[in-house]
Amino acid sequence: MPDSDAMPVVDVTDLRKRYGRVEALSGLTMTVNPGELFGFLGPNGAGKTTTVKLLLGLARPSGGGGRVLGAPLGDREARRRIGYLPELFRYQPWLRATEVLRLHADLMGLPAAGRRKAFDDVLGLVGLSDRASHSVGGFSKGMQQRLGLGVALVGDPALVILDEPTSALDPIGRMDVRAILRHARDRGAAVFLNSHLLTEVEQVCDRIAIVDRGRVVAEGSLDSVLGESATRIRVDGLAPAGLAELVRFGEPRFDGQELVFPGLPDERIPDVVVALVGMGVRVRAVASGRESLEERFLELVGRSRAGAVA
Ligand SMILES: Nc1ncnc2c1ncn2[C@@H]1O[C@H](COP(=O)(O)OP(=O)(O)OP(=O)(O)O)[C@@H](O)[C@H]1O
Ligand SMILES: [Mg+2]
Repeated sequence: MPDSDAMPVVDVTDLRKRYGRVEALSGLTMTVNPGELFGFLGPNGAGKTTTVKLLLGLARPSGGGGRVLGAPLGDREARRRIGYLPELFRYQPWLRATEVLRLHADLMGLPAAGRRKAFDDVLGLVGLSDRASHSVGGFSKGMQQRLGLGVALVGDPALVILDEPTSALDPIGRMDVRAILRHARDRGAAVFLNSHLLTEVEQVCDRIAIVDRGRVVAEGSLDSVLGESATRIRVDGLAPAGLAELVRFGEPRFDGQELVFPGLPDERIPDVVVALVGMGVRVRAVASGRESLEERFLELVGRSRAGAVA
């Protein structure tokens, strides 16, 4: 019996999915580890929801395969240990919030004992305690999404898959969701977060994959995907000889307007500026930091598309 603590929660290789002439997934490979908050990012139509459907066994791959919670894709027992909030969530309007949870608990095969407390806990977590016995028909869209999040968390699933969980939520709701996701992770669940809200992913995820046109174009920790920080200095009048002198500070790149020093320690910035001014170069702006996830995302997706066209 393999050690389930060390085994990846999701491990898929070369997944393919074709819908008629559209290739939604064209060789998608990725790994999600236990206890990880994993962000799955990509532009519209990249294949995020299709991936989720394959992980849940709601659709069959046209090629490739893999395992979820140690079982082959689509395994019914593994499915019971996965909580899921779909992209397009809708609940029967005549059901009360607790009845929605009960239906789901039945599907998961959750024992009757302890259900009441589990429902109370989950409704408290998603901020719907005072609506427990209200029918869903009277819920706002955001309240329905909160309930959906509760459904995905009930019964302490080992893997929680959320497809755009904050699409209907206001900024407060989004902040609440970040806290809820961390809470689920801290209880030992792996969380698979499908999103195109980059700031959201940047704030909570341990690791990310960026998907475009059905394949992963980058995967790793946020640090490894974003790369190290760099100092950017906008200058006028820097000659090649001057640039050559600057190598004593690192490995600068220069595009004619902006000098980029990857990994330059902050305390060396004044020295670089003094050196530039000493050469008669005009320094117009200095900024330090790493690229935002948004910049990196646009760069990676742009590069993947340029490759596809070539
Ligand atoms: N049931 C389906 N029938 C036909 N084509 C489909 C089906 N589901 C998805 N596709 C196609 O597969 C591609 C990927 O769609 P998918 O829904 O996985 O994208 P997504 O990354 O979730 O996008 P979004 O951010 O807009 O939700 C798209 O070109 C889409 O039109
Ligand atoms: Mg989608």
